[in-house]
Amino acid sequence: MRSAARRRAATTVPVAASMAVAALVALTASPAVAADRPALASAQTATATATATAASNSCTITDATVTWGFKESFRSYISGSIAKGAWEPFGGVSYATPVFTWTGGTGEFDPATGAGTLSFGGGIRFTGHNGLLDSTVQNATLTMSGGSGQVLLDLSGVSMDSALAGDDTVQTHTQVPLVTLDLAGMTVDRSGETLTLSATDAATAITAEGFEAFGNYEAGTAFDPLTFTATGECAAETPEPTPEPTEPAADEAAVTNTSNSADSSDDASPAALVAVIVSSVGAALAATVAGIFAVRAARRRKQRDESAEREATDSAAGDGSST
Ligand code: HEM
Repeated sequence: MRSAARRRAATTVPVAASMAVAALVALTASPAVAADRPALASAQTATATATATAASNSCTITDATVTWGFKESFRSYISGSIAKGAWEPFGGVSYATPVFTWTGGTGEFDPATGAGTLSFGGGIRFTGHNGLLDSTVQNATLTMSGGSGQVLLDLSGVSMDSALAGDDTVQTHTQVPLVTLDLAGMTVDRSGETLTLSATDAATAITAEGFEAFGNYEAGTAFDPLTFTATGECAAETPEPTPEPTEPAADEAAVTNTSNSADSSDDASPAALVAVIVSSVGAALAATVAGIFAVRAARRRKQRDESAEREATDSAAGDGSST
């Protein structure tokens, strides 16, 4: 009986300790902790998606063409009997009645916001009045921003007011937003990595800045409608990273997080930290439980030994009395 009792006492501590560890294992797998994992995974996925989206929105315009008559009445004035002048497109710009054509434009466009730019080289020189009128528009930039846009141009020449006043000082203005563009009808077609933009007969009107630089036409005066097409390439969609299906073991998580650089505290996974804390508390708890059971077992052993000694003494005393 005594040896059986000792065997039970001897096996009680490891069983209790293993129960405590089992409870801790269950705790680390509890819904409260596990519930953090999908949240973490989706937070990481959201960051990756935002990065992928930012990259995929970046489209480069590799070729663009604009056809625009500038202003029909101005062309009539230049080529007519008053100015008796002409125009000379240059730098890749051409003319075929009734429009000038700009080719080889480049730029960028963001399909998510509808914002972008198209830039063209070359320009047009208008002359008349035996050289008194000598105006050049060049380096066109077409800006787009969510349904509207502008045409910016470098302007140089002598204004009519100055010319009539006898002042032939050439004024130069860089990238003046000469006219507004109505891009409500612009189409944006993205097919995989290929982007196509087009707008047909977009209405234009001179701006206040255009009036200041070019003269003659009050702000809001209509210029010719403008047509353009553009093609480009967009960054390939970056596939979303697949979240890890399983969490690393507590020890691995601890190593992973502590081996990070100085900003590891910002990047540390809460689930991993919880696992480390639970692991630490579990070890302490297991040790405490084991200690309690060891003390209680030793106490029971001592009580049994004392009881056995008393029985032996009583037995001896009984034997004596019977003799
Ligand atoms: C001595 C020199 C000039 C004379 C005598 C002159 C005369 C005129 C006249 C008579 C008109 C009215 C045309 C019309 O309504 O049919 C006109 C229009 C105009 N002029 Fe001049 N001009 C001179 C210089 C200039 C210069 C240097 C510029 C600079 C760009 C200029 C730009 C214009 C423009 C934009 C118009 C309006 C054309 C339109 O109807 O759209 N002129 N000019």
